[in-house]
Amino acid sequence: MNYDLVSPCHFGLEAVLKREIADIGLDIVRVEDGRVYYTGDESAVARANMFLRTTERVLLVVGEFEARTYDELFENTKALNWSDLMPEDANFYVTKAASIKSKLFSPSDIQRIIGKAVVESMKRRYKKEYFSKSGADYPIRVTINKDRVTISIDTSGESLHKRGYRKLTAKAPITETLAAAIIMLTPWKSDRILVDPFCGSGTFPIEAALIGAGIAPGRNRSFAGQQHDYVPSKTWKDALEEAISLEKRDVEMSIQGYDIDGEIIKAARQNAKLAGVEQYIHFQQRDMRELSSTKQYGFVITNPPYGERLEEKAALPYLYKAMGEAFAKLPNWSYFFITSYEEAEKYFGRKADKNRKIYNGMIKTYLYEFYGPKPPRRAPVAD
Ligand SMILES: C[S@@+](CC[C@H](N)C(=O)[O-])C[C@H]1O[C@@H](n2cnc3c(N)ncnc32)[C@H](O)[C@@H]1O
Repeated sequence: MNYDLVSPCHFGLEAVLKREIADIGLDIVRVEDGRVYYTGDESAVARANMFLRTTERVLLVVGEFEARTYDELFENTKALNWSDLMPEDANFYVTKAASIKSKLFSPSDIQRIIGKAVVESMKRRYKKEYFSKSGADYPIRVTINKDRVTISIDTSGESLHKRGYRKLTAKAPITETLAAAIIMLTPWKSDRILVDPFCGSGTFPIEAALIGAGIAPGRNRSFAGQQHDYVPSKTWKDALEEAISLEKRDVEMSIQGYDIDGEIIKAARQNAKLAGVEQYIHFQQRDMRELSSTKQYGFVITNPPYGERLEEKAALPYLYKAMGEAFAKLPNWSYFFITSYEEAEKYFGRKADKNRKIYNGMIKTYLYEFYGPKPPRRAPVAD
């Protein structure tokens, strides 16, 4: 049986998610702003949850149709075969409704109508008036984009950025999914040094270590879909076994995380330990101004302060200027930094090779990309 799936991503990072989905062997159906539609056999639900690093959830599409009135929304939802996916005791509920550029726009009304329509559909099939909802959770999500409705069952449950390792966070942590997407956008590979001089709770170094060691992001967590009948439990077990078989724990990597705040460095170490990657990362309390390395062709991937607190805002020109001077001391390196500070490039003192707009929730941020040269190829060794 084939399943239609859709996964959301940060606006501006659709290409990264699309590549990830194709890389695990699933077929891309279409890409829209902030979401990718794809399809695969019954293992797809489990494998997408286990392996995708850059999405918040894997949604199983129950139906898609046009609706401009609540009547159309109700009738089309009722006509879907909910009982093929949900047993009689399913605890189904509409957890989220979002509407963009559509006639129907009130999330609470959309939620209410869909909820009623699903009950009617279940009544028809199970020939009963009352549902105990004593079984597994079936969270239902709805998006309406230009009057086109997509209704899905959430197979992830808790958002996939919750890998289970980040118990302690900095003041303004970047989400794990966004950090992973940025790392995957860069040409960084595990044989090149990576430094985050503003590492906070360690998200960039930890995500890089997980990628480098081939550790699946869903390795240490559970998913709502594991309680659902449409994917056999063996399929989830197989996905975990596949993940374990792909790990390369003996890989050698040089990843470094620094922060001026000693307490946050302790938290970062703790998080890396929980993620099982502490052996790959060197964390240390250090001011970014003291950045130095004897290595060449390295990568800086970071998320500097952007004025989250008012008193920090005034210091931003000095901080970004100092950052420009510190990074300039690393010859042949590539730098990538994400910030919502509009004058970042001006004070950094160098124009980025590429500047990408990424929405972090409602916050408009920019990823500034500075590419250093590629390392020279090693001469082939003679026999
Ligand atoms: C936006 S936060 C980074 C959050 C991080 N990406 C995470 O996921 O937790 C910026 C960090 O820069 C640190 N910082 C501020 N000034 C610094 C400096 N001069 N040198 C090093 N770190 C600094 C702060 O302590 C803070 O943890």
